[in-house]
Amino acid sequence: KEYHAEADTDFILSANQEWAKNIVKKWKFSKDTEHKITPIVVGGEDIVEGRTVVEAIDKCQIEDGVLAGKFANANAEDLKRAVEVAKADVDGWRSLTHEQRHAALKNVSNKLKERRADLIGVAAAEVGKVFTETDVEVSEAVDFVEFYPYSAHHFDKYENIEFTGKGVGVVVPPWNFPVAIPLGGVAATLAAGNTVIIKPASVAALTAYEMCKCFWDAGISKNVLQFVPCPGALAGEHLIANKDVDFVILTGGEDTAATMLKTRPDLQLSAETGGKDATIVTNMADREQAIKNVCLSAFNNSGQKCSATSLLVLEEEVYNDESFKKALVDTARSMSVGSIWDFKNRIGTLANPVSGNLKKAIETLEGNEEWLLAPSYAEGNEYMLKPAIKWGVEEGSFIHMNELFGPVLAVIKAKDLAHAVKIVNDTGYGLTSGIESLDEREVSYWKANLKAGNLYVNRGTTGAIVLRQPFGGMGKSAIGAGRKVGIFNYITQFVNFTEKSNPI
Ligand code: ALA
Repeated sequence: KEYHAEADTDFILSANQEWAKNIVKKWKFSKDTEHKITPIVVGGEDIVEGRTVVEAIDKCQIEDGVLAGKFANANAEDLKRAVEVAKADVDGWRSLTHEQRHAALKNVSNKLKERRADLIGVAAAEVGKVFTETDVEVSEAVDFVEFYPYSAHHFDKYENIEFTGKGVGVVVPPWNFPVAIPLGGVAATLAAGNTVIIKPASVAALTAYEMCKCFWDAGISKNVLQFVPCPGALAGEHLIANKDVDFVILTGGEDTAATMLKTRPDLQLSAETGGKDATIVTNMADREQAIKNVCLSAFNNSGQKCSATSLLVLEEEVYNDESFKKALVDTARSMSVGSIWDFKNRIGTLANPVSGNLKKAIETLEGNEEWLLAPSYAEGNEYMLKPAIKWGVEEGSFIHMNELFGPVLAVIKAKDLAHAVKIVNDTGYGLTSGIESLDEREVSYWKANLKAGNLYVNRGTTGAIVLRQPFGGMGKSAIGAGRKVGIFNYITQFVNFTEKSNPI
């Protein structure tokens, strides 16, 4: 009954570099690779027959038309059946003690550690994520699957109280953390004593399947964890709308959360709905350190993180510091974008072609905005957008107020810290936020006034560690009671507490 965070792989070690080369050998497919179709998993069965098949493209090899794999989509009947099976709980997951569930999930943790290479490989092929970025996700996944059952033991001390799962949980994860976020939802749901259905993001379904395999191969039954990739609209109508679904864990857009609640106003929804995260650099900052932290937070994973810094608010003296400006551009430029199969690149591909807010942000300049680093593509590949920096952004502009989910950093000037805090709070989002300052009074002021779930001082805004930095937002960034993952009370929202005995 101990919990500690899992370590990441040290890719400096030559043994680990060899290990990484083997991942390339196994997961970098060629054009003529024959892929088996990844099945849906409903009611203990793997099903492919008669289902629509989706092809997943390896975007780093798009010119050659290489596939990362193929998967079957669930239909309306499958979704209905999945809920019936989850509700019936034929394998009795709900009636296990939490010690038994803890032991079962410990086996999953071991499987994840064993399959680290495959999880890195599938995410590389399917979503173009660099090895180091998925590696930290696998560590976070191990943390989640160990932490949630551990956190259930905190109820032990209340001797006359017992808890049971609420019933059926549905997890609707995003594609940008294709291992850790799907797994976190599944692990919390199971640790709380519920059965679970996962509807993975379509652009990351193969990775979600590989993650689920760690549960099944560790002994969790295919009735307890079911896997149903399908289009979002179908899931809305036949899964979310089903009254036998007791709760939904979503990480996705505000629009998806709104649609779910419209479909089912009574739904217990725990949602993390993005951010417009900022880092403030005051005159009292270590400017070199600030540049490093900001560039990593803004551009790693092509800025496709709900926690990414996408707004850089500079106090006037820093804004006017020409050497800061130059070093910022140099650092951003040095982050090479390209095929993740080539280890010299540290940023891979976008999961989807540029569209929506990101497209608008890179195609237009508003007011006095100018490009400090103009957007461009690597290798002529429309998925490989290089880091871009927009300077002179004005308050209330499109790029100030909207989440982009891409590698475009907006720089805005503030006359002082109070003004900087106002600029950040005005977005209405409140997920992560950073300050770069060596002055404790500034940091205290910022902490007291900045409205965000995760506040980071002299550190990047991404990469929360389970229990150390419980992750979740406020404002437009979150819906429901489950605002913070990776903390003791997270699973309480998925359980019912009852008295063990009722003395007369
Ligand atoms: N938990 C992820 C992070 O902190 C989103 O970057």
